[in-house]
Amino acid sequence: MSDKSPTTATPPAQEHFGARPIDAGQRQDLVNDVFDTVANRYDLMNDVMSAGLHRLWKDAMVDWLAPPRSNRPYHVLDVAGGTGDIAFRIAQAGGDGTHVTLCDINPHMIGEGRRRAQAAALRPSLSYATGNAEILPFPDRSFDAYTIAFGIRNVTHIETALTQAYRVLKPGGRFLCMEFSTVQIPGLDTLYEAYSNAAIPALGKAITGHGAPYRYLVESIERFPNQKTFMRMIAEAGFSRVTFRNLSGGAVAIHSAWRL
Ligand SMILES: C[S@@+](CC[C@H](N)C(=O)[O-])C[C@H]1O[C@@H](n2cnc3c(N)ncnc32)[C@H](O)[C@@H]1O
Repeated sequence: MSDKSPTTATPPAQEHFGARPIDAGQRQDLVNDVFDTVANRYDLMNDVMSAGLHRLWKDAMVDWLAPPRSNRPYHVLDVAGGTGDIAFRIAQAGGDGTHVTLCDINPHMIGEGRRRAQAAALRPSLSYATGNAEILPFPDRSFDAYTIAFGIRNVTHIETALTQAYRVLKPGGRFLCMEFSTVQIPGLDTLYEAYSNAAIPALGKAITGHGAPYRYLVESIERFPNQKTFMRMIAEAGFSRVTFRNLSGGAVAIHSAWRL
């Protein structure tokens, strides 16, 4: 089992985007270009690259959130919500009091989400906001839960995003983050690495016509802190009762925490 993670939360002096050295300030624009390029094929690519597993991972995250099925007002902020997979599941799982705000930095991804929500007639329990996880456009203590799935590794300053999550949650609010993580099963880690490096960019190129966004995807997964390091980062942002669950041998992990 390899530990690919940095041991501290401090970003490296020289940022890279693929093989290319960049300034930290350029990173978000490059990430936005990636999602501009893939927005209209994003959902298909998720199914192809994960062989449909991403649907089970997302179901597991929403099961763990367990939004109330009652009329009790329960407002969830889904950050980096993309085309709405998590927001829609929460809106469907919760009762009449559940409302989900889908927030994403990329208007093209939100546009795809709106289109899908209209088709599924989900609109009353959903709203949309364009915003950066590092500077959330919401008041302090305004949400009962904050979710982020496969989003936080795209953020330039992860610590800032965590501090913002804490800020917008009400005391007693729940934080849930799902992200690619470190495979914990010897043998599976090597297979997974080979699949990621060879198959994902090739599939991306075949389906979207672009390999580069998918090379970025693989690299961003490799850079992301492992389960325990990320737990510490969440606690450092002020959260309590930080735990995680591994899915698919640790290829994906869901971290849970509370603002108390
Ligand atoms: C891999 S997609 C995940 C979408 C969705 N949560 C899902 O699980 O299918 C990552 C999303 O993060 C968004 N994103 C990237 N940087 C962001 C930032 N700084 N703030 C908010 N969203 C961001 C992208 O626009 C993209 O929609």
